[in-house]
Amino acid sequence: MYLASVTLHVLAAIFWLGGMFFLGIVGAPALAGLDTDLRRRLFREIGLRFRRAGWVAIAILLATGIVNLRFRGLLAPALHGGRDFWLTPIGQTLAWKLGLVLAMVTIGAVHDFWLGPLSGELDAGSKEHLRVRTLVSRLGRLNAVLGILVVYFAVRLIRG
Ligand code: HEM
Repeated sequence: MYLASVTLHVLAAIFWLGGMFFLGIVGAPALAGLDTDLRRRLFREIGLRFRRAGWVAIAILLATGIVNLRFRGLLAPALHGGRDFWLTPIGQTLAWKLGLVLAMVTIGAVHDFWLGPLSGELDAGSKEHLRVRTLVSRLGRLNAVLGILVVYFAVRLIRG
């Protein structure tokens, strides 16, 4: 059960982060040269599909993350240990990881459910559209950087 949970956790992390990097480094630049209507249609289609699958991956990460904590004997201290736990080295590493996960999920929600769809609806090429599109792409990049930090703290969590 423990091994299944960690395997699923790592697979969901690969899927979510890998998908984000793929879209940013391969997908978006590959579509950039297409004419506006086609690019928007493709972006919309790919975005909606990845949004659905990505949030399933996030749900799996949260659920298996909690199971992992339990198997590691960290769930009870995290819930009931108070300051004493959160000030230990492992408590601090976990706090960093969870804080970054919270930031990623919040930024991801703004990106996926608000600004991303808004960018697709605004008049292509208008000032407002360019502003929102720039913001959407910056939020996407920020989340990719936060994702790298989450993996770093995940690795430290186990290896100190
Ligand atoms: C509620 C959120 C989360 C919790 C409570 C959590 C908790 C944990 C725990 C306890 C482990 C250690 C598993 C073990 O026993 O080996 C772990 C590993 C890992 N987590 Fe998470 N996690 C969460 C979210 C995430 C997210 C969002 C990502 C990446 C985007 C992630 C990436 C990883 C990776 C890559 C490992 C493997 C680290 C290694 O084996 O060195 N986790 N997580």
